[in-house]
Amino acid sequence: MQDCCGRTIDYLRLSVTDLCSYRCRYCMEPEGVEKRAHGDILSLEELAEMAEAAVRCGVKKIRLTGGEPLVRRGIVDLCRTLRSIPGLEELCLTTNGQRLPQLAGPLRQAGVDRLNISLDTLRPDRFAAMTRLGRLEEVLAGIRAAEAAGFSGLKLDTVLIGGFNDDEVGDFLALTMVYPWEVRFIELMPMGPCAAWDKSCFLSVDSILQRYPTLQEIDPQGVARRYRLPGARGTVGLISPLSHDFCAQCRRIRITSDGHLKGCLHSGEELPLRGLHGAALEAAIRRGIAQKPPRHHLAERPSDAGRTMNRIGG
Ligand code: 5AD
Ligand code: SF4
Repeated sequence: MQDCCGRTIDYLRLSVTDLCSYRCRYCMEPEGVEKRAHGDILSLEELAEMAEAAVRCGVKKIRLTGGEPLVRRGIVDLCRTLRSIPGLEELCLTTNGQRLPQLAGPLRQAGVDRLNISLDTLRPDRFAAMTRLGRLEEVLAGIRAAEAAGFSGLKLDTVLIGGFNDDEVGDFLALTMVYPWEVRFIELMPMGPCAAWDKSCFLSVDSILQRYPTLQEIDPQGVARRYRLPGARGTVGLISPLSHDFCAQCRRIRITSDGHLKGCLHSGEELPLRGLHGAALEAAIRRGIAQKPPRHHLAERPSDAGRTMNRIGG
């Protein structure tokens, strides 16, 4: 359906947990997420019920997010259930990759169409320092497992951080010469721990175009402007929530793992969905879509999200 600004809303990002196996410094405090009361988080049945209602409201694509969605018990069963919803065209999942060696095959069999894997650095020491709990090799093994399981068109999501990985852009671009992947650079958004970081950490992805003028523009896809290096097998995506916001083309809504609908990642407005069923649930989702905020204000001030990224779902 259309929102108040005439945007077609057909993409749901559904967060299945706020827990994560990593503690990336821009996203989480070292102690992780405060422990939530048992039952705060939507059950698998509730998640499926909300997904079904959203599809009845016009959603055609669902992306499962977290925290880290693959730490949720029952995630493969949930994927199988969601994939069988009539009218759903695409089921995607964003993961840190750590559990893909075990789960890539089962997820593929359950009908997941596409995977995005977050990867902010290709250097083992930096990876360990940034994620606090992760090892680069486990994610690389996860990427190999995803390929072996038959996932094509893999997307690697890299948050561009000044002073951390801006010297690795060339290494990431080089991957597209060899592999048929889309390497996507995402501007760091000031929310959670990184909202207090020095402004030198926040780089425009346009700096990549200036440094690599041989990047040739190709058709955009969703919120990403896209490019290709001459002769490359893969592509490059630039996602610029700050420098060129894409609010006017936004097609998404979000449901948090505790059952709140958010029209915008960066708005404090939330609509509680829990306890609603059938027509009442559908009506609430339609209201949330109709009230989706026109845009965010990240260029002027930090995010108004009122939650950190792991509690919303990247
Ligand atoms: N800015 C940009 N991206 C972020 N992510 C988490 N926090 C931020 C932020 N402040 C990204 C993760 C992952 C996805 C789930 O969201 O790195 O790619
Ligand atoms: Fe986990 Fe992603 Fe946050 Fe890193 S950025 S701690 S992988 S949710």
